[in-house]
This record gives sequence, C-alpha cells and structure tokens, in this order.
Amino acid sequence: MNIAVLASGKGSNFEALCRAAKKGDIKGKIKLLVTDVKTAYARKRAKKYDVPSIFVDPKQFKDRRSFDKEIVKILRKEKVELVVLAGFMRIITPYFVRAFKNRIMNIHPALLPSFKGTDAINRAHKYGVKVTGVTVHFVDDKVDHGPVVFQKALEIRENESLEDLEERIHRVEHSLYPKAVSLFSRGKLLVKGRKVFIRD
Ligand code: GRF
Repeated sequence: MNIAVLASGKGSNFEALCRAAKKGDIKGKIKLLVTDVKTAYARKRAKKYDVPSIFVDPKQFKDRRSFDKEIVKILRKEKVELVVLAGFMRIITPYFVRAFKNRIMNIHPALLPSFKGTDAINRAHKYGVKVTGVTVHFVDDKVDHGPVVFQKALEIRENESLEDLEERIHRVEHSLYPKAVSLFSRGKLLVKGRKVFIRD
C-alpha cells in the first residue's frame, strides 16, 4: 500500500511511521512527505529515511480548494491509497475528503470531541481536566470530527507541567499512530458511519 504523510512542522509522528514501515510493522511504503512549510523539520527526517519530500507553497494558490487540487493530483500520480495527516496545520476541503473517502487519517492530542483545534494539550492542561489523551480518526468534512479509530486516555498528574504532559502525549502518539496505520495497511479497518470496526 502506498502511503503519503502530510506535515507542517516537527514531524515526530512522521518519523514514528517511517520507523514502523522500516521494521515491517506497516504493510506498505511511505511514498512521500508533503509539506506546506518549506522549512518544516519533517523534511530533514524524510531525508534520513530516504522518503521523497515535496513542498507545496500555499501562497501560489488562490484558495484552499485549488491548493488541495494540486495535492490530490500529486497523490494520485504517486498512486497513494492512504493519506496520513501528522501535524498538518491546514484545514482540508471537502474536495480532498471526497477524493480520498475514508482514506485520510489524522491524529489529535486530546480525547475528541474535547479540545478540538490547535493547541489542544495546552488548553486541556489549563482547563484542569483530570483525563486527556490521544485520538486517531478518519477525516471527514468537519475539523477533528471523523470516525474514531483509537483513543488512549492519560490521567493528568497533580502539578504535572505542560512540558511533561506534552512528552507523555507524544510518546502515546508515536505508538498509537503506527498501530492504526498498520491495521489500515492490512485491510483490517472497516468504517460504518461513525463507527470503525477492527477485523480479526
Ligand atoms: C501532534 O501532537 C499531533 O497530534 C498534532 O500535531 C502534532 C504534530 O507533531 N496533530 P509532530 O510534527 O508529529 O511532531
């Protein structure tokens, strides 16, 4: 299975996926990394894993839909079957969602539907919730909304610093995302409405 990862920043989840693919845990190939930020650190990681990376400059497009059209064109050319969003800081349009229906995954550093949107770890920490976590989900037309593949809860410790919580969340992300992509690559995820079933 050909997989593309879309990222805007650090790319630690992208690297976790590369590692899993290299180990053979993911039944597929990470064909390319697409970024919308030229200096994204994820691109350096791509070099390390010999994954081609493409930078698509949003400024070259008149609106979000034409940007997404370009991305879809690239993904189709590479015969991509799964699109993995890993810290991709753009809202994707219904055009993109339709082109890869139930074939786009996202990871969110909170227990959806709580703390949708950016800066979720910080907002959960500030809010004072006792439990937060990580969600892996398919992408639909609404932000941080599609069918849930996995969730893992973490209890926030008393007096835990934001930095410590972030570190624990990222650690969970780096095992949960490869697990979800691995199942997808083996054809084991079945989406029915809002529910995702894992086949034996
Ligand atoms: C992760 O926390 C992910 O949940 C969120 O963006 C962050 C990306 O981190 N969507 P990285 O670029 O993979 O290190």
